[in-house]
Amino acid sequence: MLIDKHGRKINYLRLAVTDRCNLRCFYCMPEEGLDWLGRKELMTYEEMLHICSVMVKMGIEKIRITGGEPFVRKEFMSFLTKLSKLQGLQELTITTNGVLTAPFVPELKKLGVKSVNLSLDTLDRNRFFAITRRDELPKVLETMEALLHHDIEVKLNAVVMEGKNTDDILPLVELTKDLPVSVRFIEEMPFNGEGNHYTSLTWDHVQILNTIKDKYPDIQKVPDAPFSTSYNYQVPGHKGNVGVIAAYTRSFCGTCNRIRLTPLGVLKTCLYGDGVMNVKDLMRAGAGETALQAALMDAIGKKEINGWEAERNSLERSSLNASMATIGG
Ligand code: GTP
Ligand code: 5AD
Ligand code: SF4
Repeated sequence: MLIDKHGRKINYLRLAVTDRCNLRCFYCMPEEGLDWLGRKELMTYEEMLHICSVMVKMGIEKIRITGGEPFVRKEFMSFLTKLSKLQGLQELTITTNGVLTAPFVPELKKLGVKSVNLSLDTLDRNRFFAITRRDELPKVLETMEALLHHDIEVKLNAVVMEGKNTDDILPLVELTKDLPVSVRFIEEMPFNGEGNHYTSLTWDHVQILNTIKDKYPDIQKVPDAPFSTSYNYQVPGHKGNVGVIAAYTRSFCGTCNRIRLTPLGVLKTCLYGDGVMNVKDLMRAGAGETALQAALMDAIGKKEINGWEAERNSLERSSLNASMATIGG
């Protein structure tokens, strides 16, 4: 079992398989994209499978694949198929922008993927274009329908941004009337790959929730899943629910059960902190399973108490200027 120095059980790995993406969400990366990582710098699928199997033996029970956009990496489904067969892994989930995902939904179902998180900040095609700089809303909606059709749980991630999509909050809540989806409104974080348009948080979780409560005063609190990032509510009579993720305020850190691997193989014990070791480099230097386990145990044991501490301790303070796509969300 993996326990950090604060006594928290760490059983959730977020694995970013690529930094590349087919959208250009302005809160994540600049319009021209990033200086993409080269093939040799990326962990190979074999390396990822190996480190995942080591981690699962150590106590990781849930793996969420993130990116960049996972489906843009070649042979992603064949990697996922192998990963889904890892002995001891209890839950395999994906966060995707949904542009390329629809055709793979039946296969995801067969692999036992029970839940997919879709990034969707607006239901309006023009605003979708303004935010993502690509005209791909219909494909994302197609993916959402395919997931629901295959009985895969859908969580929609909407980053709330002043002047961009605050008018979308209520229409997105309205979507939960007939659809059994969970819409989560996320506080914008500074990881936009530029570090310059982000000055300070404009819409925090309180303001988001008050906006929802103004229209739906009878909204009710529903139980949150253990270790949930979101505080969840339901409008009485609606099929789905709505949540707020205080990603900038960081009020859920106390129960954090997660670690991250970036596409480079860098282990991060907090989204807001520096990388603490590079598992790819260790594997390429010939480290065997015991050495890997010892290094992981040591690094994970030191996990920060919360995102504020991680940010304070960060030497690479420039990591706050990093793109979410290179961190893996
Ligand atoms: P599950 O709880 O597994 O459903 O996923 P999630 O909500 O943690 O994951 P998802 O990839 O859908 O991310 C939703 C939002 O939460 C994104 O904006 C993430 O960056 C943010 N988030 C995820 N993990 C953390 C974390 O450890 N700290 C902070 N501050 N934000 C996080
Ligand atoms: N702030 C908050 N959330 C972000 N995401 C990407 N960039 C940011 C940011 N700067 C979210 C996306 C995606 C998830 C993995 O991270 O909505 O769904
Ligand atoms: Fe791509 Fe996700 Fe970043 Fe948008 S938030 S550019 S979908 S990686």
